Amino acid sequence: MDLFFLARRFVAGVDVESAIRVVRGLNENGLHATLDLLGENVRDRGQAERAVEAYATLLDRIATAGIDSDISVKLTQLGLDISEHFCEENMRRLLSRAAERRNFVWIDMEGSAYTQRTLDLFFHLFRTHPNVGVAIQAYLYRSEEDVRRLADVGARVRVCKGAYKEPKTIAYRRMRDIRRNFLRLAEILFERGSEPAIATHDEQLIEAVQRLARERGITPDRFEFQMLYGIRPRLQERLVRQGYRVRIYVPFGTHWFPYFYRRLRERKENVWFVLKNLFEWSRA
Ligand code: FDA
Repeated sequence: MDLFFLARRFVAGVDVESAIRVVRGLNENGLHATLDLLGENVRDRGQAERAVEAYATLLDRIATAGIDSDISVKLTQLGLDISEHFCEENMRRLLSRAAERRNFVWIDMEGSAYTQRTLDLFFHLFRTHPNVGVAIQAYLYRSEEDVRRLADVGARVRVCKGAYKEPKTIAYRRMRDIRRNFLRLAEILFERGSEPAIATHDEQLIEAVQRLARERGITPDRFEFQMLYGIRPRLQERLVRQGYRVRIYVPFGTHWFPYFYRRLRERKENVWFVLKNLFEWSRA
């Protein structure tokens, strides 16, 4: 039973060519992209190696297709659960291929069990590969300190709210606290960071970031907004019309369920949408 049709709103397709087609369409509307080959928590060496190979081929395909896209990876897809050394070797291979293709690799931030290891590996890689950036989650108390360290070395940071279920001993739970911390992180990155990415669909936060940028004299070419494929497309296009750089995170591949589940959890309307589609499908 193929339930991919349920995820179609958030996932560009199961294969590379569908994803390339989607990115081409986004590029035609003035949007940049970051392609994510879905997969996480891989515990089999062969599977992690196949993911590296698929990403390397994707970097080549981005170049030959002439589309405007970088890539986003998850370290647990590239073997972090198997061994840190193995994951580092895999990342080095990818970063070298990306450098040959003059491209850039974002590291997504996963659940808090991986935060420290992700950042340790990031700092290590960044010394030799400046074409790598990392996501930071505004809901974590530790993030201000992490962002300061990242800004100190001139690394590119993608600030997002955070998509995993974390305990209140380590993470803010109230939206107004998460927003306040998000803005604080953006402020640090505007003061000392390098081309930060502001990853949110929250209009209140976007307006606050725009205000902050204006107050600090940060012109729109010095940062970018990032949003997820399928979420608030009109807002994405409006920001482009206003002269901002906007990059869309475009996931694709057969391992779509965990990503899809996080999108459902974020909004209960999505669950109703899925239930309605399932009901219609079962009657068809
Ligand atoms: P919020 O959830 O408050 O949403 C604001 C508005 O956006 C909503 O009112 C609604 O209109 C729309 N919206 C948001 N989510 C929606 C959904 N699922 N379905 C439909 N509408 C929705 N997280 C993480 O932990 N690690 C990471 O590496 C990343 N990477 C990442 C990259 C990019 C480019 C983005 C945009 C986001 C991430 N995230 C992430 C996810 C992020 O942490 C967060 O979970 C989502 O962006 C939702 O939070 P918002 O800031 O959009 O606000």
